[in-house]
Amino acid sequence: MDKQTIEKNLTRVLEKTDFKNLGTRRQGKVRDIYTQPDKIILVSTDRYSAFDRNLALIPFKGQVLTQTSKFWFNQTKDIIQNHIISSPDPNVVVVKKCSVIPIEMVVRGYITGVTGTSLWTLYNGGQRDFGDFTLPDGMKKNQKLDSPVLTPTTKSDEHDKPLTTAEVIEDQIVPAELWKQLTDIAIKLFKRGQKVALSRGLILVDTKYEFGLADDGKLMLIDEIHTPDSSRYWQADSYQARIDAGKEPQNFDKEFLRLWFKENCDPYNDKILPPAPADMVAELSSRYIQIYEQITGQKFETDLDTPIAERIKKNLTSFNI
Ligand SMILES: Nc1ncnc2c1ncn2[C@@H]1O[C@H](COP(=O)(O)OP(=O)(O)OP(=O)(O)O)[C@@H](O)[C@H]1O
Ligand SMILES: [Mg+2]
Repeated sequence: MDKQTIEKNLTRVLEKTDFKNLGTRRQGKVRDIYTQPDKIILVSTDRYSAFDRNLALIPFKGQVLTQTSKFWFNQTKDIIQNHIISSPDPNVVVVKKCSVIPIEMVVRGYITGVTGTSLWTLYNGGQRDFGDFTLPDGMKKNQKLDSPVLTPTTKSDEHDKPLTTAEVIEDQIVPAELWKQLTDIAIKLFKRGQKVALSRGLILVDTKYEFGLADDGKLMLIDEIHTPDSSRYWQADSYQARIDAGKEPQNFDKEFLRLWFKENCDPYNDKILPPAPADMVAELSSRYIQIYEQITGQKFETDLDTPIAERIKKNLTSFNI
């Protein structure tokens, strides 16, 4: 989709939904979650969240996330069963309701990042022992790791805390046998992700997985997988030349909008935020669409006529909403 079409459709966004009779409604950062006894309806909205609040609405983001995730669930279903039951609308998936394993399974293939908990920040600050693995001296920022590493964290509403195998077992978060299964599967999923991404000219740098247990006790991959919100991607062709020249890899960058808010207001404290500049919103939307097209090799298609909420309602008529 070209930039002009995006600019004409800046108000064609889904902020939130409030469907009646679809189940118990809960609002996540990005998704509206409707829980029924045995299934969940996940509606991806166009919310762009940072600083624990919604900063802007990015056209087509909800559809991009849903479709990217669906692509990857399909690409990995031989490794592990996933929660998808059906997808009645481009922004919606109906999934098996699971009890969520309270661990974010973070996998990293490269030593990078800028936040306090990122691998590069910790390494650059002198840390070599990461509990389940150690790293040698002399590594450079954005270098590939010899093999992918797992840096799991707790899944909590407050700040995610790093976890080691010893802690998972001692604190009895999951039984040892299940933990072994989770770690094996997370690494396998990541390797598959890297292989498929590379065939599209992309490096899958790092990601996080969530798992759950279905009613019958079966382990399932849940939530989202390898989306641009849950993963970092770099362009493969320019990677080596750029790091050799001391430059950052060419990445899918959505930070610029977050930074704009940081520079133009106090997103932690201000009650009301200034509206995001239209050209930035259009740019971010265009980047989401481009990364979707590159990952999946498919053109992004959407119906521009019906308002999104109306379309979803129509597509969910069998749910009596
Ligand atoms: N199959 C499933 N069964 C139960 N819960 C699920 C399932 N798939 C996803 N979820 C949960 O639904 C929510 C998805 O919504 P969203 O991504 O907006 O949430 P979030 O703000 O990231 O939430 P959280 O901070 O709890 O991860 C997540 O809390 C996720 O754990
Ligand atoms: Mg989430």
